[in-house]
Amino acid sequence: MSSKINGFSKLTKSEKIDWITKTHFKNPEVARKQLESYWNSDSKLQTRHDEFIENTLTNFYLPLGVAPNFLINGSYYTLPMAIEESSVVAAAGNAAKFWSTRGGFQATVLNTIKVGQIHFLYTGEPSRLKQFFKKRKGDLLQATSNLTKNMEKRGGGITSLELIDKSEALKNYYQLHLEFKTGDAMGANFINSCLEQLAKTFEEYVQTDLFSQGEDGVEIVMSILSNYVPHCLVKASVSCPVEDLAFEESGTDGISFAKKMVTAINIAQCEPYRAVTHNKGIMNGVDAVIIATGNDFRAVEAGVHAYAARSGKYTSLSTAAIEEGLFTMELTLPLAVGTVGGLTKLHPMVKWCMELLGNPSAEKLMEIIAVGGLAQNFAAVRSLVTTGIQKGHMKMHLLNILNQFEATKNQKEAAVEHFKNKVVTVQAVGTFLEINTP
Ligand code: MEV
Repeated sequence: MSSKINGFSKLTKSEKIDWITKTHFKNPEVARKQLESYWNSDSKLQTRHDEFIENTLTNFYLPLGVAPNFLINGSYYTLPMAIEESSVVAAAGNAAKFWSTRGGFQATVLNTIKVGQIHFLYTGEPSRLKQFFKKRKGDLLQATSNLTKNMEKRGGGITSLELIDKSEALKNYYQLHLEFKTGDAMGANFINSCLEQLAKTFEEYVQTDLFSQGEDGVEIVMSILSNYVPHCLVKASVSCPVEDLAFEESGTDGISFAKKMVTAINIAQCEPYRAVTHNKGIMNGVDAVIIATGNDFRAVEAGVHAYAARSGKYTSLSTAAIEEGLFTMELTLPLAVGTVGGLTKLHPMVKWCMELLGNPSAEKLMEIIAVGGLAQNFAAVRSLVTTGIQKGHMKMHLLNILNQFEATKNQKEAAVEHFKNKVVTVQAVGTFLEINTP
C-alpha cells in the first residue's frame, strides 16, 4: 500500500488507525490493539487528550514520579517529575534530603521580563522612520489596549516598545522590540496577539503617515515572541560550612569533597564539551518539572542554552565557590513558565501536579523549577567526583534490564537483593538470571 495519503486529518480516529496500521505494520491487528491498550477507559478523558493535538491516535506514557523533602525558602515541597531516565527522580530525592539538613535551598526571582518582536524591512530614510515612530508610539500601544487591559489588572502588560535599527546586520532590517510582563501566564498567546495587533496598526499608520509622503518601503516580515528570556531569571542556591559536606559515600572529608566539587564546576565553566553535559544534568531536573506542570520544555530548553552561550562561549549554568569556610553552589536560569492558561486547567495530571505544589504563582514555580535543576546538578556532580555516575545510574536501571530479560517478580526481587552492593551490567544481570532461572 502506498504510504502517501491526502486528507489524513479529515479521517475519523478509527479510519486513521486503520490506514496507519495497514500501511506500516506487519500485523495491523496487533498494532491497532497496542494503540487501543493505551487509551483511557474514560472516553471523555480520552477525548480531552485527543483534542490537545491533531491526528491523535493514542497516549504516550511517561512515568510521573515525585521527589519529596525539598526545603525551599523555609517550606517543604514535593516535586512532581515526569521523566523516563531511571536515576533522575532518585537523585533529586537524595539531593533534597541531603540539603534539608544543611539549611535547604534558597531561591529568588530576579526579573520576569519577556520579549516579543515585529521584524520588518524599510527602504526609506532612517530619520523619517524614527520620527514616525516617535509620533505614533503612543497610538501603537493604544491599539493593543483591548488585549492588554485584563493583563494590566493582573500586574502585567507591555512594559516597553522600541524601534531598533538592525540594518547593519541585515540590509533594510528594522524591528519593533517589545517587553512584556505576563503575570502567572507563560504569556505566549498574549504576547503574540499583542504583536500581531500592533503590527497591523503599524502598517495602517505607515500607509497614512509615510506612504502619503512618498515613502513606499515597509514590509512586515513576522511578529513573534522570543524564547530568549535573559531578563526572566531565577536564581537558586545552596550553602553550608564545608565540614558539613562530609557524607558516607564520599570516602573523604567535607573540605576535600567541596574542593573537588568546585573544581568539577570550574571545568564546566571553561570547557564547552563538559558544560553541555553538565547543563544536561541540570535540565534533567528542570524538564521533568516543566513537563509535569504542563509547561513548554522546548521553549525553556531553547532559552536556557542560548543563555548559557550569552558571552559568545557556551558555559556552565551553575557556579560553585568556597569562601570563608562556606561552600556555595548557585544556578541562574532564564525560565518563562506559567501556572494559568495553556494546559494547566485542561490536563488532569497537570492540575494534580499544581495542587501537589500548592498551586504556586508563576514566580514560585520558577523558584521550584530552578531548585529542581540545582538539586539534580549537585547530585550528578557529587556522583561524578565520588563513586562515578554508573553506580547509581545502573542501580536504578536494573529494573529496566530485568524487564528486557522478562524476569519474573521473584527473579526481580532476588536480583535487587543480589545487586545491592555489586556493579550492575547487562551481562551480569543476564548471568544472574541464568543461574536463578527455575
Ligand atoms: C545524565 O543524564 C546527566 C549527567 O551526565 C550530568 C552530568 O554529567 O553532570 C550525569
